[in-house]
Amino acid sequence: MQAELEQIETEALTELKVVNDLRELESLRIKYFGRKGQLTTVMRGMRKLSKEERPIVGKLANEVRTNITAAFDRVTETLNQRAREQQLAAEAVDITLPGRRPRIGKKHPITQTFDRIQEIFRGMGFQVAEGPEIEHEYYNFDALNTPAEHPARDLHDTFYIANELVLRTHTSPVQVRVMEKQKPPVRIIVPGKVYRLDYDISHTPMFHQVEGLLVDHQVTFSELKGVLYSFARQMFGEMTRVRFRPGFFPFTEPSAEIDISCTVCGGKGCRTCSRTGWLEILGAGSVHPNVFRYVNYDPEQITGFAFGMGVDRIAMLRFGITDLRLIFENDMRFAQQF
Ligand code: DAH
Repeated sequence: MQAELEQIETEALTELKVVNDLRELESLRIKYFGRKGQLTTVMRGMRKLSKEERPIVGKLANEVRTNITAAFDRVTETLNQRAREQQLAAEAVDITLPGRRPRIGKKHPITQTFDRIQEIFRGMGFQVAEGPEIEHEYYNFDALNTPAEHPARDLHDTFYIANELVLRTHTSPVQVRVMEKQKPPVRIIVPGKVYRLDYDISHTPMFHQVEGLLVDHQVTFSELKGVLYSFARQMFGEMTRVRFRPGFFPFTEPSAEIDISCTVCGGKGCRTCSRTGWLEILGAGSVHPNVFRYVNYDPEQITGFAFGMGVDRIAMLRFGITDLRLIFENDMRFAQQF
């Protein structure tokens, strides 16, 4: 039995030297320490030994077990260490790789156009006001002297989103909201998004406008002309000519549609201006007395003018963009060009 124990020890220690991984180690553990393992079997056999033999063999058996166990622990530690190193090597990050360059954004041409328009009007003493895109019919229509049966209220143009609530079809309702809260003088512009049920090559359901309103004692139509001339020349260049044509809007009387000389051909006539030499960019007029009545201004005391322009059209002219749809695709290759 002693010889057997010694042999087990020698064998076990030899085998442990060539173990490659934790799985092999586990089968060795079973081979020696398992329920039917070699060492277990020998230890169990000790019951049959005589009283004299038992302590001697027992001592040896314990030594053998301690030695083998210690060897197992060393190998386990080595294998674990190796596994950790492999994992670290596999998960290593190459810190010498160059980083990803952050992509620098560009202001969208619409934003740039808004910025420029605001800059020009700030220079003429206007302040910037804003209002909600979900608007009450009252502000979008009624208080702008646009009664219920007016064609502009037709479902073909307006997104109704709930009873008496619409997506604003223009920035004009902000005129009313501001005048309700503020006594004259009022001198504001209103940049913003507006919505109409319209979709083709030159119309999108959402587009952008800038509204203007100047109200005070004794404001005249010639001041409107002066402001718009100045705007057109700053926006499109000193050579720009401006033309007023009679127009109609419910909330202004008289009303005008305002053209600038074509920015592409300078007025000679080309495709952009449909050979007319002129481009329509604005609606404007003297504020209708009824609008003043809605906000409790006295139309006998107070006069003013208002105007509204389409920003998308102006951006297209300014940057030579020929397809309106490009403006809304948010393609960086497009935005990067301006
Ligand atoms: N709100 C008009 C539109 O969307 C534009 C407009 C015309 C605004 C005349 C005005 C104005 O303030 O006086 O077509």
